[in-house]
Amino acid sequence: MNDKAIKAAVIGHPIGHSKSPLIHNYWIEKYGLSGSYEAVDIACENLKAGVENLRDKGFAGFNATIPHKEALLDLCDTLDDTARACGAVNTVVFKDGKIRGYNTDAFGFITNIRAAAPDFDFAKGPATVIGAGGAARAVLFGLIEAGVPKIRLANRTRAKAEALVQSLDPQQKVIETLDWDQRHAALDGANFVVNTSSLGMDKQPALELSLDDLPPAALVTDIVYSPLETDLLKNAKARGNQTVTGIGMLLHQARPAFEKWFGVLPDVDETLQERVLK
Ligand code: ATR
Repeated sequence: MNDKAIKAAVIGHPIGHSKSPLIHNYWIEKYGLSGSYEAVDIACENLKAGVENLRDKGFAGFNATIPHKEALLDLCDTLDDTARACGAVNTVVFKDGKIRGYNTDAFGFITNIRAAAPDFDFAKGPATVIGAGGAARAVLFGLIEAGVPKIRLANRTRAKAEALVQSLDPQQKVIETLDWDQRHAALDGANFVVNTSSLGMDKQPALELSLDDLPPAALVTDIVYSPLETDLLKNAKARGNQTVTGIGMLLHQARPAFEKWFGVLPDVDETLQERVLK
């Protein structure tokens, strides 16, 4: 038996704010494993050397956050389907001398909704997605995989939304792009609404979105989790809509990554949720 401690990390720049060490070290302890997970600050210009350094030090792999998720595509020897489709790598495994890239964000997004709202049916109607930045890719990919029949995508810069559709749904079978001021009307008949933009986050401008046309049965979520209960979620809840906060996406995306390095698929328990929100 090999009882050597397994080492993993999260890389980013800056990286001090990352909650990933708390999450993974909680699981290492909970499952009685011999290992460690640390935050490593790597500037963009040092990415290749930084990754090789982790490999040479015997790390099993790492998570990546801003600004490295896209640049890692070119550094990986292999990519899973989600990383390729999303154009971003958030998890790397060093295996057999190869750098293997994965993306677990779409899994995290969909699994969070399924865990919080087990009866919710993605296939029942259209989804409205606000924002088309980096985070939107995994959300859109996840929604298509989950069987959402139609996605209305509203972004301030429509050309950015169109470019995203080009790579994710080139025949525009599912995603339809809209002008930014159409976002309110895009809630009419929606089954699901998600904010993937940075609007509503602490220190960012508010998300102005009229919920007047939103059906009462629609589920509303936000990938912003600071504050945990954004104005979007507060307003939706006040109207009686079911809401799911964004923190679970962060927790669930970490699970398959942890499994790849440590060999255990961990669960998201209440203690972990409390700790991460402190
Ligand atoms: P991330 O990595 O979080 O996706 P990003 O790529 O900069 O960051 O995307 C931020 C998202 O928030 C984008 O959809 C952005 O809209 P643009 O594509 O038009 O830039 C959106 N966003 C940020 N500030 C905004 C604002 N003041 N009004 C409307 N949308 C905004």
